[in-house]
Amino acid sequence: MSGGIVIAVDGPVAAGKGTLARRLALHLGFHYLDSGLLYRATASRLLADGGRADDEGAAEAVARALSREDLARSDLRSEAVGQAASRVAAMAGVRAALLAFQQRFAATLPGVVIDGRDIGTVVCPDARVKLFVTASPAERARRRQQELLGRGESADYAAILADLEERDLRDTTRPVAPLRPAEDAVTLDTTALDADGALQTALQIVESRLKAVPDTAI
Ligand code: DC
Repeated sequence: MSGGIVIAVDGPVAAGKGTLARRLALHLGFHYLDSGLLYRATASRLLADGGRADDEGAAEAVARALSREDLARSDLRSEAVGQAASRVAAMAGVRAALLAFQQRFAATLPGVVIDGRDIGTVVCPDARVKLFVTASPAERARRRQQELLGRGESADYAAILADLEERDLRDTTRPVAPLRPAEDAVTLDTTALDADGALQTALQIVESRLKAVPDTAI
C-alpha cells in the first residue's frame, strides 16, 4: 500500500466534524477534504442546470463532470442545496462517480483528513484513524441555528431540528453507504465540548490510534 496517513472523520450533520477535521489537518500538517462539498456541488449544478434532485441519470452525469469551479459555487451551504445533496448522495451512480476522486485524494502525502459520512466504511476502509463525531440532535440544531444567524439568515429552531432529523433519517437508512460508525471507529461525542475541547480529545485519540495500529502504509 502506498500513500500517507489517512484520518477519517464521519458523523451526522452539524456534529462539529467539519471544524474538527479542518483543525486536525492544520495541526498535523495534513491535507483536508470536505467530502460533503462534492455532493453539494453535484446538487447545486444539477439544480442550476434545471435538473431535478430525483433525476439519477442527470445527477450522475453532473457528478462525473464535476469541475474545480463547481466546488466553489456560491450556494453550496444553502439549505436548498443541502437537502438536494442528501438526495443525490443516496444514488449509487453519484457515489461511484465521486469515489475515485476521494480515493485519489486520500493517497496524498504526508497524510489527509477527510470528513463525511462513509469515509471510514467505504472510501477509506483501511484508514489508520477513524473518528465518528456525534452530538445530541438538540445541540446540533442549536449550533446550526447559531451558524445561520451568524450569516444573517433566518433560523427557526424547530424547523432546523426537523430538517436535521429528516436528513439523519435519509443518511442512515439509504441502501448505499449509509451513515454508521465503522467497526474500528472511535466515537467522539461533542455535545458538551467546545471546538478546542473537541480538538484536544481528537488529538489524544489520533495519537493513541497511531501507536496502536501498526504502520504498514509508509
Ligand atoms: O456534510 P454535508 O452536510 O456537507 O453533506 C451534504 C450531504 O452529502 C449530506 O446529506 C450527506 C451527504 N454526504 C454523503 O452521503 N457522504 C459523504 N461522504 C459526505 C456527505
